[in-house]
Amino acid sequence: MKTPRFSLLAAASVLGLFTGILPAQNATPDERARAMLARMTTEEKIGQIQQIHGPDEAAASEGRVGSFLNIVDPAISMKLQREAVEQSRLGIPLLLGRDVIHGFRTVFPIPLGTACTWDDDLAREGARAAAAEAAVGGYNWTFSPMVDISRDARWGRIAESFGEDPYLSARMAAAFVEGYQSPMPGRPKGIAACVKHFGGYGAAEAGRDYGSTPIPPRELNDVYLKPYEGGVKAGALTVMSAFNELDGVPCTGSHFLLTEVLRQRWGFEGMVVSDWESVVELTTHGFAKDHREAAMRAINAGLDMEMTSHSYRDYMADLLASGEVSMATLDERVLAILRVKYALGLFEDPYGPAFDAKKYLLPETLALAQRTAEEGAVLLKNEGDLLPLGKGVTVAVVGPLADAAHEQLGTWAPDGRDADAVTPLAALRVKLGADRVIYAPGLTYSRDASTGGFAAAVAAAKKADVVLCFAGEESLLSGEAHSRADITLPGEQEALVQALAATGKPVVLVLMTGRPVAIENLRGKVPAILAAFHGGTMAGPALANLLFGDASPSGRLTVSWPMASGQEPIYYNHKSSGRPASYGDFVPIEKIPQGQLQTSLGFKNSHIDLPPWPAWPFGFGLTYGKIGYSDLELSAKKIGMDGVLTVSATVTNSGARAATEVVQLYVRDDYGCVTRPVRELKGYERVSLAPGESKKVSFTLRPEDLSFTHIDMAMGPEKGTFTVWIAPDSASGLEGHFSLE
Ligand code: BGC
Repeated sequence: MKTPRFSLLAAASVLGLFTGILPAQNATPDERARAMLARMTTEEKIGQIQQIHGPDEAAASEGRVGSFLNIVDPAISMKLQREAVEQSRLGIPLLLGRDVIHGFRTVFPIPLGTACTWDDDLAREGARAAAAEAAVGGYNWTFSPMVDISRDARWGRIAESFGEDPYLSARMAAAFVEGYQSPMPGRPKGIAACVKHFGGYGAAEAGRDYGSTPIPPRELNDVYLKPYEGGVKAGALTVMSAFNELDGVPCTGSHFLLTEVLRQRWGFEGMVVSDWESVVELTTHGFAKDHREAAMRAINAGLDMEMTSHSYRDYMADLLASGEVSMATLDERVLAILRVKYALGLFEDPYGPAFDAKKYLLPETLALAQRTAEEGAVLLKNEGDLLPLGKGVTVAVVGPLADAAHEQLGTWAPDGRDADAVTPLAALRVKLGADRVIYAPGLTYSRDASTGGFAAAVAAAKKADVVLCFAGEESLLSGEAHSRADITLPGEQEALVQALAATGKPVVLVLMTGRPVAIENLRGKVPAILAAFHGGTMAGPALANLLFGDASPSGRLTVSWPMASGQEPIYYNHKSSGRPASYGDFVPIEKIPQGQLQTSLGFKNSHIDLPPWPAWPFGFGLTYGKIGYSDLELSAKKIGMDGVLTVSATVTNSGARAATEVVQLYVRDDYGCVTRPVRELKGYERVSLAPGESKKVSFTLRPEDLSFTHIDMAMGPEKGTFTVWIAPDSASGLEGHFSLE
């Protein structure tokens, strides 16, 4: 039997067919939105463009709000939705938003860790599982994925990013959008994704959050905008405007970004929400005289919904009366919001799944989170094949992150619970038996400056066969507004690792961080280093499996791993410069004789105290196999503007263990009407290889894959010669050449 609600909807829809007021449910979201708009008062329209933080029942029942964010109690969400749907005059449902950034109750690795899997399918499945949990928690909208290109590890939000590469970030953006917006019962588009922060937010000067982002226009097109475009083209229903200013215009008031690029260039039909109070911050930027003018500039630029601050609510009627905002503009904004609500199916099923805590932490969701943590950990060093460890060893478990449930959840896990997290210590005790795990943390938390625990840690190391040192950062040392000027390991952690290394026992350094950290003082001192980032609820079992060979490392860096803070920003796809430094050029500063003439220092694009390359390059990561590349083949030496080039190579595992290799395709456009990056990623594939197995891996390249922004700002490929690599990382590989004619 139908519920009264459905009967009413059905009746309304039949009525609509006769009256033309409400089109049938199978009309497009745009047709339905237009029909609804025609029935709305100005006050109701102004209500739709306002998002409120925290509950306001009166606003919901009177149709004075379009969305709430952060309603953490599902019962209150349900109540607000009922007020909106059953009490307000037009019954327009609410968007209920939340930062579901890396999982919901089941916490996945930070997005940087997920990106290091180079596994789009896994990322998509993870987002789908997070959406399912978030829907149970009362939400129909997530403010994710964050796709800001991040070339500077000082920036705290690098943790939330997919790293430095536009091609990979665009693929990850699409995977997350598709995952969140996969159909679920009653919801044809799952929960709405939100591609953020549009645009260029990650280029903050000196890595200080919210700072200016000086990005040249061509760089903006060819690098920074690509991941947003990837998310939009994958069908993201919403986009968030960023806090930063770009060439004098704060993004939230940028007609260029919100209208010309997003709508006119990319054809986006969804809605744009501001970031938290970023509309009224137009005044702090010095871009608007007061909140009234801020509202005017934002809405005229193309900003549909205001988050948290309420200049739209306070001034829109006045701005309409004065003619500074036209009714046509307001209508466009409201239509965009309504289209999203119709596309999501909220008019058919405003309430979503009933709250049921048993739907959290499902075994299959935990398994996905664990697999993501396994695939996203990057093995940076493994001297003498120390790893994987044999099951018979006794281990000393040391370090402030070994048993820090809260910290391993990472920066944005407001719905995760520390009690759900399985730490490395707990997982190792299960795997090895408690008697073969000697625990002595040495430091109590990552910034701990007391060496009082060192003696016990060193004693534990001496009793064990191998030392597993879980070092890193507390979760609060990365994320929004948590940038660091010095990205070495905080507290006395370096000293702890040195003390452990001095015992002569082999030390495995496991880094649980929100960013790549500078560990030059330790790199040569320990035989094995595993970069695990903050791995979420299941980080412990994932790491235990990797260390003991029950899982095999396959993660690859999606950021260049710096030697020192002073190298930042550092990224692989930089320009050549007229004086590039090559590996032979660098003379360590201590080897430069006193009184040396300036001319003999080389005049190269380098610091004199560190080379210009990172400790480990973008794309790097070891496996437990022994991987070799051979037989690069290009299907042609030349292709025309309508041609296709196939590039292939053979990848062989001559080791004794199975491995998954991430095979990467890079291109360099040798010269152009403007300078071009020294390498650009154009393809990747995860390839599993049994011991002794070889596989041929092929990629196709089309002229449009070689597009860039020309001197006259036209975009497209350009004739010329190119270098191509099939490679295990961005600094090596088999090299070939072709031309585009
Ligand atoms: C952040 C956004 C987030 C929003 C809502 C802001 O401070 O920059 O990424 O989605 O808050 O919580």
